[in-house]
Amino acid sequence: MPKVWIEKILDKPELYLLRVDDNQIKYFEATWEIPEGITYNAYLLKLENAVVLFDAWKKDYTKEFIEALSKLVDPKEITHIVVHHTEPDHSGALSEVLRLNCYRAQIIGTSFAKRLLEAFYGSKAVENFYTIKDGEEMKIGGKTFRFITVPWLHWPDTMITYIVEEGLMFSCDAGGGYSIPKTIDDSDEEVVQEYLPYVTKYIVTVIGHYHKYIVQNIEKLKKLGIIEKTKMILPGHGLIWRKNPKRIFEHYEAVGAGVPKRGKVLVIYDSMYGFVEKAIEIALDELKKHGYIPVVYRFTDKEAPAVSDILGEVPDSEALIIGASTYEANIHPRVRYVLYEIVDKANYEKPVLILGAYGWAGVAGREIETMIMRSKFDHVDTIEARGNATEEDEERIRESVRKLIQKLGK
Ligand code: FEO
Repeated sequence: MPKVWIEKILDKPELYLLRVDDNQIKYFEATWEIPEGITYNAYLLKLENAVVLFDAWKKDYTKEFIEALSKLVDPKEITHIVVHHTEPDHSGALSEVLRLNCYRAQIIGTSFAKRLLEAFYGSKAVENFYTIKDGEEMKIGGKTFRFITVPWLHWPDTMITYIVEEGLMFSCDAGGGYSIPKTIDDSDEEVVQEYLPYVTKYIVTVIGHYHKYIVQNIEKLKKLGIIEKTKMILPGHGLIWRKNPKRIFEHYEAVGAGVPKRGKVLVIYDSMYGFVEKAIEIALDELKKHGYIPVVYRFTDKEAPAVSDILGEVPDSEALIIGASTYEANIHPRVRYVLYEIVDKANYEKPVLILGAYGWAGVAGREIETMIMRSKFDHVDTIEARGNATEEDEERIRESVRKLIQKLGK
């Protein structure tokens, strides 16, 4: 059974985390492999004459959410519900909360959120909806709530709430990540180190298509002076950031900008009968000779890595090497899908070398080249061998790796 956490985060004002550890999920958004699971975080703030709920959980956990919430408050006493983002992993349990609340609470969100809530849960869900304007401030229970829109983090509806007097930032998807951390916050460095790669994987798979908005929205928060003043970041997934709140946005910024880790080259290939693998092994040898650290994902008749894991490796790679067989006059289907997703979700200005093998006609290389040329990636070279790479092919491959390294300026 998924674990439910009801944790007091602050005494004054009284702030609680309601977290469920979804260890049943296999594919986030019915697509991304996450054997590591995910958490859904909601928050309850008790103020003078006001009880504010920030978001909820996925519909599957409605019963557990109501049970947890009812341990802290009678749902009828909730005066405000802030809906930062309507994706149903945060809003699925809301209908039941509203019903138990007898539709008394004021729902606060963006105009997009109103439209989507109505589409998902019917007109009753938005009967008592207040539409905020970007930057609007509202006094609730004696505190100043500032609402700031952060469109495309992760949907156009998305906003954050900043409580001015307390320096609390409720950030929903922004600042979140996959996996089920052992702790609720960033106090344990070992937990943080284990968690951050899952944050990267989450950013790329969920928000990656809009990654330029990550950088833009964080810039916006910086200009407003909010990140400087924030004492705690309370996201809708994963760890709360209170030891070092700035750290999670620094991580988001680095992923959004595709800041590379020195020496890391991501190598992705398929090999049906070992011919592409031979070409790749030559490239790996040349890379290592020059001090590079290849991170390798391969599709063979014995293994098929998770595409979501591959995507999570792109942002901090210096360069990519793609190896593919020609398959029915196209790119091998596994590599074709990975590439499609890389270009869609992790489209960065990084050099790419294409290697391949074919039987009667080489087509994969040309097709990959076309995809790369249309993206932000920088095509370096394409070398394809007919079947087993010959000595001459080997020299061409080594030369192309050296060309790739030159691009990296070392
Ligand atoms: Fe966690 Fe975009 O929902």
